[in-house]
Amino acid sequence: MTYHAIAIDGPAASGKSTLAQTLAERLGLVMVNSGAMYRAVTWKILTEQVDPADTESVIRLLNITDIRCGHEGNVSTIRIDGIDPSPFLRKPEINANVSTISAIPQVRDRLVALQRDYLNRTHVVMEGRDIGSVVFPNTAYKIYIDADPSVRDARRSDDGEIDSVSKRDADDSSRKTAPLMVADGAAILDTSDLDVSGVVAAAIQILGRQGFPMPQNAPILPNEEPSTPMRWIYWLCWMSFGAAYRTLFGLRIIGDENLIKAGPVLIASNHQSFLDPPLIGNLYKTEIVYFARKTLFSGIGAWFYPQWNAIPIDQEKPDTSSMKSAIRKLKEGWRVLVFPEGQRTFDGKISEAAPGIGMIAAKAGVPIQPVRIFGAYKALPRGSGKISLSRITVKVGPPILLSAEEFKVYSNKEGYLALTERIMMAIKAL
Ligand code: DC
Repeated sequence: MTYHAIAIDGPAASGKSTLAQTLAERLGLVMVNSGAMYRAVTWKILTEQVDPADTESVIRLLNITDIRCGHEGNVSTIRIDGIDPSPFLRKPEINANVSTISAIPQVRDRLVALQRDYLNRTHVVMEGRDIGSVVFPNTAYKIYIDADPSVRDARRSDDGEIDSVSKRDADDSSRKTAPLMVADGAAILDTSDLDVSGVVAAAIQILGRQGFPMPQNAPILPNEEPSTPMRWIYWLCWMSFGAAYRTLFGLRIIGDENLIKAGPVLIASNHQSFLDPPLIGNLYKTEIVYFARKTLFSGIGAWFYPQWNAIPIDQEKPDTSSMKSAIRKLKEGWRVLVFPEGQRTFDGKISEAAPGIGMIAAKAGVPIQPVRIFGAYKALPRGSGKISLSRITVKVGPPILLSAEEFKVYSNKEGYLALTERIMMAIKAL
């Protein structure tokens, strides 16, 4: 049997262990924390009172030390001369010396062989610094996770640990053997603004794109909405619009169970009225990203629209910079609302789409959520300032999750058009 390896690399406190552990549980793999192996060897060196800087003595001790790696359930285990060192591995003296020990090539050779040996027995999700580059360079499933240094420092001190994260990163990245780096083919995931379920959702989407065989019928996509509070101005508008929609327009939402609440999502909706953006924003309890006409960003608009996470767009001509901003926001884990038609309908019917959404969807590689609005055209049609109190309904369709093969097909201009068409058909079908 061929076993699969998911490689997760990244600097200290970027969230590797939490992600690897959750993936192991959801996808049925063994989680191997390779850092714990380097820590275990460091523990042995310090326990035997060998100076970590004395490389020859370290190697001599290593050669007479028995190291056994295994797993219990989803979690890897390690014994050093019969002892389980796990309770000692996060002590300050280990944090302070592990980079020195892990820079010794002989230490790495020994541990890399043990890490590779897991794949003779089981599927693994292994996290570390060189998993995608050295340990399993041929695996197709690679994620490099990162987070702002200040966020990582805060995570370590929240855990009550004394650890110089930046010094360790500098040492781990500058060493000669197997330095920390983004492996060939790895997808980069920035976790600075994401909570755990957001990170897991984004990672599962990446793995799906990389072609990882997902277990069928398993609830693998976490769907709890993140708890990040809204900024006050966003909240004020969100709440007022929400109340107005419910009371004045009897807002009805159909297909709520299809709504992806966690992780990045490209929301694709038809466009009937000025009422639409906050209408879609009200499907969620946290902020989303919108597009707004470039001309609106003047005067008070220059202050107001950024409060709504609005990306300025030039409606007169194809605007690549706004598309790039949308792709960047999606890669950062946001939900971005796009009206593929580009402008409000003139007659209430769904009109032709511009090809932009296909390109955004293909390049960002996130799930696409088709949504259809009914009744907003009647409530506030284009060209009329008159509001009529008719019912508004929003239908949420099942997400479109593209396979690795489909991404290949949708990777050029023709592909973007085909994907745009597919998205429009999904909206029309609602
Ligand atoms: O992931 P961690 O912070 O527990 O790792 C501890 C140290 O081990 C890290 O500073 C560098 C080293 N390490 C390594 O060199 N290669 C790996 N694959 C994993 C960890």
